[in-house]
Amino acid sequence: MSRRLSVLLSPPDIQKGRFEDTVAVVVDVLRATSVIPVGLAAGATAFFPVETVEQARALHARIPDALLCGEREGRPPEGFDLGNSPLEYTAARVSGRELVFTSTNGAPALLQLRAAGHVLTGAFVNASAVLDVLGRASEDVVLVPAGMAGKPSLEDMAFCGALADGLLNLDSTCAPDYAAVLTLGLWKKRQDDISGLLATSPHGAWLAANGFAADLEFCARRDIVSVVPRLDNDRLVPFAR
Ligand code: MLT
Repeated sequence: MSRRLSVLLSPPDIQKGRFEDTVAVVVDVLRATSVIPVGLAAGATAFFPVETVEQARALHARIPDALLCGEREGRPPEGFDLGNSPLEYTAARVSGRELVFTSTNGAPALLQLRAAGHVLTGAFVNASAVLDVLGRASEDVVLVPAGMAGKPSLEDMAFCGALADGLLNLDSTCAPDYAAVLTLGLWKKRQDDISGLLATSPHGAWLAANGFAADLEFCARRDIVSVVPRLDNDRLVPFAR
């Protein structure tokens, strides 16, 4: 039987789906799912994703040794230890630490998928490692671009296309849905210039205009870490490969 490969073009579609027997990959290239594998690769022991800033503060009060991390409108809320720039997540800052993490779109998308069989995160920084896991899995695959405010974003859709391309090469029995074919077409058009892709996306342009141009360069780099974050109950930890 062939595996299904779907892309949820709009985050609200998460509510309608049933993903118990599925591997779901949440994609928020700018920047949550670039930050998370980079932080784990730098030695953070776990990310605890939560939806709101208030929930993040409440959880942090219960585990005060953790770092409080994430963003609203791109910047760390008051009292946070780290923001949402992958450049901040160095071994010196995060090694051996638990991180309470909230972000505008990425963290809520992850939490909504909790019922899926397996929930992973993907971005260019760990693309090959994610593909390796997807290629070995036997379950259907759903790619979930976190987007912005409920709407799909260019960079997340293009990265879903990159994963679709890679997975179809690894497993020719995979049957892509219409949305997966759409993202594949986008990826084929833009694959030679990932930096340009991120710079021309509305979210990328907003980040650059707000002082985060270096993050775009960083998030455009492929395969700089081999960690695949996996949701284990309330926390993201490295997938054991
Ligand atoms: C998000 O989760 O919405 C993003 O990671 C926002 C950002 O770029 O800081």
